[in-house]
Amino acid sequence: MCGIVGYIGGKQASPILIEGLQKLEYRGYDSAGVAIYNDGEIAVQKYKGRLKVLEEHLEKKPIPGSVGIGHTRWATHGEPNDLNAHPHITTDGHIALVHNGIIENYTRLKEWLIEEGKIFKTETDTEVIVHLVDYFYEGDLEKAVRRAIGKMEGAFALGVISKNEPEKIVSVRKDSPLVVGIGKEENFIASDIPALLKHTKEVYFLDDGEMAVLTEKDIAIYDEFGQPVEKEPFTVTWDVSSAEKEGYEHFMMKEIHEQPKAIRDTLSPRLNDRNMVEIEEFNLSREDIQRIDKIMIVACGTAYHAGLIGKFAIEKFAKIPVETDIASEFRYRDPFVNEKTLFIAVSQSGETADTLAALREAKRKGARTMAITNVVGSRVSREADDVYYTWAGPEIAVASTKAYTTQIVAFYTIALDLGLKLGTLKEETYHQIIKELLTFGEKTEALLQYKKDIQFLADAQFNNTSAFYIGRGIDDAVAREGSLKLKEISYIHSEAIAAGELKHGTIALIEDGTLVVALTTQDRLYDKMLSAIKEVKARGAYVIAVAKEGNQDIQKEADAVMSIPDTYDELTPILSVIPLQLLAYYIAVARGCDVDKPKNLAKSVTVE
Ligand code: AGP
Ligand code: GLU
Repeated sequence: MCGIVGYIGGKQASPILIEGLQKLEYRGYDSAGVAIYNDGEIAVQKYKGRLKVLEEHLEKKPIPGSVGIGHTRWATHGEPNDLNAHPHITTDGHIALVHNGIIENYTRLKEWLIEEGKIFKTETDTEVIVHLVDYFYEGDLEKAVRRAIGKMEGAFALGVISKNEPEKIVSVRKDSPLVVGIGKEENFIASDIPALLKHTKEVYFLDDGEMAVLTEKDIAIYDEFGQPVEKEPFTVTWDVSSAEKEGYEHFMMKEIHEQPKAIRDTLSPRLNDRNMVEIEEFNLSREDIQRIDKIMIVACGTAYHAGLIGKFAIEKFAKIPVETDIASEFRYRDPFVNEKTLFIAVSQSGETADTLAALREAKRKGARTMAITNVVGSRVSREADDVYYTWAGPEIAVASTKAYTTQIVAFYTIALDLGLKLGTLKEETYHQIIKELLTFGEKTEALLQYKKDIQFLADAQFNNTSAFYIGRGIDDAVAREGSLKLKEISYIHSEAIAAGELKHGTIALIEDGTLVVALTTQDRLYDKMLSAIKEVKARGAYVIAVAKEGNQDIQKEADAVMSIPDTYDELTPILSVIPLQLLAYYIAVARGCDVDKPKNLAKSVTVE
């Protein structure tokens, strides 16, 4: 959480910082601030609330200057208010900094610094950093920052400026992301690439412990021992539009519409010219694969839900036992993981703290590790043995959509590959499935045509206070994702429950008008789902079914039907989730919710 930016160059810093922060607002949005050096002083403005509040203040009282840092916050320590907002500045105003992360030993440091005479004004962990740098400052900002981080435990990405050395920004990171943007006669720092795209596509990714010292003309990078490091710049291939709404009202809607392309972009590089799966990044020989006796998929939230589909696909096609676990649980239950385990971490952002910790635990136990992630160079991608990138492009909306469908594509290709190599999947079936997957770009496009019908349904249902999502088999996993989507953006209480479990308790909550979304895409389980629908209808539920096109019977049973194109039962999730994303979206819009930035949430959760 939290987005940081920094600018040094010949232009006015303030608008560049604000624009950068706009692109990072998905990371946190409870308060925002900037610190800009001007005429021998550092001026700070920071306010509780959305970035807009800061913008309005800056319009009334602009801060000139061409060196500055900015921050958009998702509070971890201390409530979101003006005082706790970043940047934080020393009592005498000579050093200011922004921070993304958490300082775990901040209480001890704070006590010590208070004894040393430092005066604290905020409740944040970040304020200890500013006093620490101040404590060590002897006329060399780099040195002071290096000594300060030597005392800090936890995660941080920092942007630091000093009025004594106004010609530079010092930036350093450990466990929180940071990109350095390379400009002409100007340079930048940011938590994520979208903040830089308008200015440059050439970036450096800093490794853990590395420090960048930016001046207008130059960027010097040092390792944790202060030795200069030669780094290859990375050229970003996205264009500015990937981080813009392009006429859509919300990023979420734009990203829902980008799914056909994202699915194609993720699938096609993994198929060779004979349409056989070839995952270059994941080169396990048949012997390697035969040694694997278990696969563990670990993730959080939506990525975890994709992992549930991964379990179905791998067990079905490759006949290897798979466990899918929630990352925050995995590490505290002493799981059975060893050298024969293939561990797969799934994370859109690649920086989720729980997922990262689980990955480290699996490595410690000797597992072969793989990451499925959407962010090139992210933490998770660097730490896993192998990386499978989902080519979904930047996902900005807090509610994940295209990342989920592409994570599922990743799992299908892995499952097919393992199945063929192990001989558990007939070649004919393998080819049929790939052929079908290749139609998914088109099928998802066709599905999006129905969005007006779904909006119509949503407009009739937005006043519900609770909703239940039910399904069986693979539909149960998709129901969980549909339910999460609804609750996180519309704030309607929602629960997903395996349809067969309803009668063991949850059905007690069904009453007149309760919204039940029933997934009925599995031919084998269809009759069982009909029984579940009848049970809830008998108690007054309003049922919206998700069913395969051409299913006439369901029209008689459910109050409304959202159809998906026909496909193999194993492959339905990519299609069946789309009406659920749209339903959640339109319900949230009808309720007047801030769809892209739901309350209390942030796009990436870098705290445990
Ligand atoms: C998705 O809609 C959620 N906002 C959330 O559950 C998310 O999927 C989860 O925090 C995991 O994030 P990651 O994929 O970046 O690790
Ligand atoms: N810990 C800092 C704060 O609460 C930064 C928050 C973050 O990056 O998540 O202000």
